Amino acid sequence: MNNRRFYIETYGCQMNFADSEVVNSILMNDGMTPVQRAEDADVIFVNTCSIRENAETRVWNRLKEFRSLKKDNKELTVGVLGCMAERVRDQIIDREKLVDLVVGPDAYRDIPNLLSEVDDGRKAVNVLLSLEETYADISPVRTSGNGVTAFVSILRGCDNMCAFCVVPFTRGRERSRPIDSILREIDELNHQGYKEITLLGQNVNSYKHESIDFTQLMDEASSQNPEIRFRFSSPHPKDFPIQLLHLIAERPNLCSYIHIPAQAGSDSMLERMRRPYTREEYLSLTELMKETIPGVSLSTDIIAGFCDETEEEHQETMSLMKTVEYDLAYMFAYSERERTLAHRKYEDNIPEEVKKRRLSEIIKQQMSIQEKNNLKELGNRHLVLVEGTSKRSDDQLSGRSDTNKVVVFDRKDFQKGDYVEVEVTGSTSATLIAKSIKKSSITDFYSESVLV
Ligand code: SAH
Ligand code: SF4
Ligand code: F3S
Repeated sequence: MNNRRFYIETYGCQMNFADSEVVNSILMNDGMTPVQRAEDADVIFVNTCSIRENAETRVWNRLKEFRSLKKDNKELTVGVLGCMAERVRDQIIDREKLVDLVVGPDAYRDIPNLLSEVDDGRKAVNVLLSLEETYADISPVRTSGNGVTAFVSILRGCDNMCAFCVVPFTRGRERSRPIDSILREIDELNHQGYKEITLLGQNVNSYKHESIDFTQLMDEASSQNPEIRFRFSSPHPKDFPIQLLHLIAERPNLCSYIHIPAQAGSDSMLERMRRPYTREEYLSLTELMKETIPGVSLSTDIIAGFCDETEEEHQETMSLMKTVEYDLAYMFAYSERERTLAHRKYEDNIPEEVKKRRLSEIIKQQMSIQEKNNLKELGNRHLVLVEGTSKRSDDQLSGRSDTNKVVVFDRKDFQKGDYVEVEVTGSTSATLIAKSIKKSSITDFYSESVLV
């Protein structure tokens, strides 16, 4: 036991944010106290991401800042957690001499022991990946966040080996968490007043524990908690369960929003990327989503400038995005990562300026699609879950629709955590502007909209 103060700074995907909450819990059980500023901490942890070069560069720069804090406070301990811990452990400890402890994503239970090793004057490292660890019995402690929306990890690791992606090497093999522990965590969140839960995994639809699959899990979770909204991220197009689409269509608290990463729009590129679906299969899936769930909102991830990408392939990606008309897209320039298939077998041969140009064409087109989609929302009614005050004005609240669109409207007497029925009065490419109609609930809103 010890009474040190710790601070965690988190980079990367939602899973990393969820992991930081697991680490909070482990450290607090050991007697440590979380603080909100690095300057106030005895131990600083950086939970890191390796997905692209610039994600790592940000962390290196931040670690250098922490090294200067160490000059003022000789007792300060700095630890690196997460994906970079797996990827660049030797460099972090030996070459840069920046940190005292390095802990990979499956070794967080060991942090208290590792901290004692540091106390004894040693550098401490545990980057062992596990076939079983899911942290199922640990109740994550959510020290930051809005108190309304929460992430729950249901599956760790990834077995997909997309040619560009480092995740299988930093997070190890895929493993699912037992349903009982997931439902228990959701129940705790319900009692704490949370209203929206996103179930997380790198390939969330391959969830399988004993005889329970992803659709059954979503069914159980949403029927047990009718006033909590459920989302999930990220599914893989290759094995998306069609049954789930029907469940989403029927069940008011399963959100009509699906993030379904395409990565590219041509068969040749998808094959090079080792994404096991064709353009046509992907498009029939998104078509089916739209048919089965009226008003569904779709989003995607896209990579520009992957190895050998031709102008034609780039155009096919553009045309796929135009066909689907996504409401949101995360768009990236390809960044080569060591150990991946692309690094071993292909050449990162698209010049930086071509990658940038293609990416900016993709982004430009996407912004205009979003603007157009949002214009069509004028007059629509949505049930918005209020997440907090709008960034632009204290007099306005901000939340998201069932379809995951950011909506702002006048504060009036509404509060964080309320479900509010609104009518859209204006829009930009990123936000809907609305007027409130009344406070509501999932049950009321959807039973009324069925009657209309
Ligand atoms: N498991 C998720 C993706 C996790 S990584 C999924 O499969 O949907 C998030 C996104 O980062 C990926 O979808 C991909 O678009 C992007 N990405 C991954 N590796 C990348 C790389 N080397 N360069 C650029 N973008 C990459
Ligand atoms: Fe990476 Fe592909 Fe796994 Fe997603 S599915 S984490 S892109 S290897
Ligand atoms: Fe980054 Fe690791 Fe997530 S590489 S995107 S933090 S799984």
